[in-house]
Amino acid sequence: MNSTLFLQSDISNPYLTYKTMLQNNPVYWDETNKIWALYSYEDCVSILKDPKAEIPTVNPNNEQKLNKKALEILNNLTRLSNGIQHKISKEIAMLLFSKMKSVDITSILSQLIKNNLAANKMDWVNSVCKKLPLLVVLKSFNFEDKDCSFILYQIESLVKIMLPQKTEEQVKSINEISETIFSIVEKQLFQLSFYESLSAKITESNALSLDEIKTISISNLIGLFIQSFDAGRGILSNSLLQILNNKTFSTKTEIEKSVIETLRFDPPIHNTRRIVVEDIFIGESLIKKNDSILLVLASANRDPKKFKNESKFDMERNTNTENLTFGIGGHMCLAKHFSIHLATEALWFLFNEFKTIKILENNIQYEPMINARLPKVIWISLQ
Ligand code: HEM
Repeated sequence: MNSTLFLQSDISNPYLTYKTMLQNNPVYWDETNKIWALYSYEDCVSILKDPKAEIPTVNPNNEQKLNKKALEILNNLTRLSNGIQHKISKEIAMLLFSKMKSVDITSILSQLIKNNLAANKMDWVNSVCKKLPLLVVLKSFNFEDKDCSFILYQIESLVKIMLPQKTEEQVKSINEISETIFSIVEKQLFQLSFYESLSAKITESNALSLDEIKTISISNLIGLFIQSFDAGRGILSNSLLQILNNKTFSTKTEIEKSVIETLRFDPPIHNTRRIVVEDIFIGESLIKKNDSILLVLASANRDPKKFKNESKFDMERNTNTENLTFGIGGHMCLAKHFSIHLATEALWFLFNEFKTIKILENNIQYEPMINARLPKVIWISLQ
């Protein structure tokens, strides 16, 4: 039997594997990796909504030897917390997110294209996808250009802080950059006009000191950078590939529908994990306290019980928006609409600006990641 955990770089079509598993083993115990894997839409939704299934701890007892600042960031991230800590950090993350000022996505994009286009060719992933979502977030919080450049340069190392397992090298670079990023964000946070009222609001509803609120706020602002990087990169890459493949670029509405269908059909994030804090049943399978679960969201998105003609890219299917790519329940992504809007604006600008856009890659290679399917490079020609 296949392992449920594989690198996306090692497999050309993971959807065939998901299809087989959904048909034959929708609730599967992977003995090698000691993890349950869920492949159906119904089971993924029920676990995502179940308070008995929590977010697993990354780096228990600091076994990965992160330094003080890196640990402070990791331990305060809403994405990785549970219970009351999640309630507070999510409230702060949402307040920060709601205060983002609107920035002109197309002028940032057009500058990126100008800086990177040579002989009408450009690598879409490294020139745009890895930069645009994070730059939009940074500029929405008024970060200075030099701080934007520093964070943009370091983000690829910093995002590794989320990995359940890290190499020594990854820990070393996370430790090296955490303190500087923390102090850049701290300085900027105090310049934001809304910060005082945000922290007053949080002290009113929770028994926390101003210092504690400051640390949670800085960590979750950094969390927004982290979250925007991989997934933001993926939505832009995968949507471009699908739109060109399906030739669905004639209107902005068509682009938006294609982005949403891409999120179902070829999502950047393929799975997320939970740990069970009390015995539960999924159908006839007993999931015991402390068992780990892999929720294969990309498989749930192709469950024929939910999505008719599930293997077809169909931007008109009326259930497309119900894909699970942003999660669901208490930990659902807070940037769903932001991400769809950003991708739609960026791709509409691209197709409006250039008459002919061609993919120059024959064989897209993916990053060696377990949870995300992200093209490494996509060379395109723009005429
Ligand atoms: C295509 C783009 C994106 C995808 C597919 C995505 C996906 C997800 C998923 C699946 C989760 C839930 C994880 C779980 O329950 O286990 C999540 C949570 C989260 N996302 Fe996103 N995300 C995207 C973009 C973003 C962006 C741009 C931001 C910030 C600017 C962001 C911020 C967050 C945060 C803060 C959480 C944690 C919410 C919580 O702890 O309750 N995401 N995202």
